[in-house]
Amino acid sequence: MLVYFVTDEPTKLPAVRAMLEPQHAVLPWVLGSDGTDIRSHGVLMVDIDLRQMARVDQLEFVLKDLAEIPEKLFVVHNLSRSMVAQAYALGATGVISRPKEAALKVAEIEQAETAAEDSAADQPADMDEGVAVFASMFSNVRNGRPLKLVDAQRATSKIITRVGQDGLSTWLDEVRRYHEGTFQHCLLVTGIAVAFGLDVGFSGGDVSRLGMAATLHDIGKARIPLEILDKPGRLVPEEEEIIKRHPAIGYELLKDVRGISPEILDGVRHHHEYLDGSGYPDGLSGSQISDLVRLLTISDIFAALVEVRPYKPAMPRQDAYQILCGMEDKLEGALVKAFRKVALAA
Ligand SMILES: [Fe+2]
Ligand SMILES: [Fe+2]
Repeated sequence: MLVYFVTDEPTKLPAVRAMLEPQHAVLPWVLGSDGTDIRSHGVLMVDIDLRQMARVDQLEFVLKDLAEIPEKLFVVHNLSRSMVAQAYALGATGVISRPKEAALKVAEIEQAETAAEDSAADQPADMDEGVAVFASMFSNVRNGRPLKLVDAQRATSKIITRVGQDGLSTWLDEVRRYHEGTFQHCLLVTGIAVAFGLDVGFSGGDVSRLGMAATLHDIGKARIPLEILDKPGRLVPEEEEIIKRHPAIGYELLKDVRGISPEILDGVRHHHEYLDGSGYPDGLSGSQISDLVRLLTISDIFAALVEVRPYKPAMPRQDAYQILCGMEDKLEGALVKAFRKVALAA
């Protein structure tokens, strides 16, 4: 595996080389020098003094060139809380307290990548095809490979067919039984949004657009560290801030993809906005929030409430619907009313 070692101190290089080579190839980049060949895979390891703003500025410049690299490991000596937050703010996907820990981390990353490639290439034969396409799309993005819009379209159209044929309840039960985490959540949101669109009499084109927005709405989470994303229990404020970046990350991942429609980009970026202006990332309010986004937000919140986590059983659909009804300043009342049938259908 290629390890790009970015440092402000050339004397750190021999020890890193001795630790990682020959299993891995170390490409050094000393801040202020010309850098190295730009590649788009491997691991980035950053060991600089993050307290020095001039160096952080230089680092940001380097990170722009290496933006395609999915795993970014930062060495934060003594794991000082503010410097750890700084590392994540700069795009870290993992933080270690000493360079010595890098060997283990790089090995873990390599193992995870191999496993993801194997599982994407080798889905069980009885796995629903829409789910399989969904899985490979997420693992591609997590591993820094480009997102193929055609994958999202295939997954969405399979889910529309399934929900149309078997109904939402069957879909919810199946997804909650077999899938976990963010992946379960996205499948649930897509099924719910599609059922909602079908129920309110959307045209085929509109159901597809809503379904695509739902399929892709949390794709930015594929770039959030798993230890934060799958953390059981409450997140600390710094972690919450990191999670809250996912709509903007998703938007950035998709905005230049050929064939993506503005409605889908709108859904990805704005599904956490509320009518009263209290949402994120842009603090939109009222008429700035489109109909498609309003439907998507209702589906998203409902899905989050009824999903199953290892530490949390599914909330009954009736209770989840009551919570939506209590969010009157944030969600459109008429749509929440229209959603009742979908939420409670047997
Ligand atoms: Fe989200
Ligand atoms: Fe979501």
